[in-house]
Amino acid sequence: MRPVTLLLYVVSISRDTQSVTWNWEQWWTYAGISGPDFWGLINPDWSLCSRGRRQSPIDIDPARLLYDPNLRHLHIDKHKVSCTVENTGHSVVVSLDSSKPPLNVTGGPLSYRYQLTEIHLHYGASDQLGSEHTVSGRAFPAELQLLGFNSQLYSNFSQALDKAYGIVGISVLVQLGENSSPWLSLLTEGVENIKFVGDSFTIPQVSLHELLPHTPYYVTYDGSTTMPACHETVTWLVLNKPVYITKPQLVGLRHLKQGLPGAAPLANNFRPAQKLHHRPLRTNIDFSNAGGSCPSMQRGLYYKANTWPLS
Ligand SMILES: *[C@@H]1O[C@H](CO)[C@@H](O)[C@H](O)[C@H]1NC(C)=O
Ligand SMILES: *[C@@H]1O[C@H](CO)[C@@H](O)[C@H](O)[C@H]1NC(C)=O
Repeated sequence: MRPVTLLLYVVSISRDTQSVTWNWEQWWTYAGISGPDFWGLINPDWSLCSRGRRQSPIDIDPARLLYDPNLRHLHIDKHKVSCTVENTGHSVVVSLDSSKPPLNVTGGPLSYRYQLTEIHLHYGASDQLGSEHTVSGRAFPAELQLLGFNSQLYSNFSQALDKAYGIVGISVLVQLGENSSPWLSLLTEGVENIKFVGDSFTIPQVSLHELLPHTPYYVTYDGSTTMPACHETVTWLVLNKPVYITKPQLVGLRHLKQGLPGAAPLANNFRPAQKLHHRPLRTNIDFSNAGGSCPSMQRGLYYKANTWPLS
């Protein structure tokens, strides 16, 4: 039996590289002088990476969560799609086949309909690190990020990247377990084929629902893409349950290279948590019903509009 782990419990709010074809777009890394601390300095178009104040990822501090009763369930289309899995040198990126009916994402905190386009996998060189989002300061060994663009306002992902409400990011934290999610198995079974940058393989007809943890609960906030150019256009949802990956699967991923044979291993491809700068962290987990003490946006006071003329 798979253990059921919630990232945030209702009652206990604990406080406790070298590719031969480098181009400008690729010239950033996760360590050293081209690492996250320097992204904003490398390229003027990436200045938000150092100057932005609504950046991602963040640490989710349970003490800061606000229950928002107006948040809806997140809806993600269920039909199957084919995917291409590629080693980009920065990440393992799964691109959804765009010729098929789009996988739409609606509901949750979203005002628009979004179309899923790709999934990024971040993971550590050791089990203690890897995820970009952290919970109570604790990282997970990996994180899957499902990214989509606002298909009501924009025509594709690249156009939406730097536009208002352009992108949705759904974060699924990945925990070490005895059995992995079937979807993650499909992905990791193929890692031998994507050892070097630019390598890819396809997964025919898979449902993303097999990837997602079964939970209606999430935390949402406004943030950015976690890679240059760090555009502050992303509505993030961090799901309140992890999926599982096995130790051998993680080890397999750590054999990937950032470049060609001889290049550094591809791992620890995460940006550290960024400052919150007073952004609200909303959740649809109703802590108050369970006797907890999460601050709530549920109304205790009611306001009425004055109608003119005042009588
Ligand atoms: C998904 O969105 C597209 C427009 O981007 C629309 O044509 C399609 O009908 C939607 N699919 C579903 C299942 O609602
Ligand atoms: C994205 O859409 C824009 C505007 O319609 C277009 O100019 C651009 O070529 C498209 N890009 C891709 C990669 O399809």
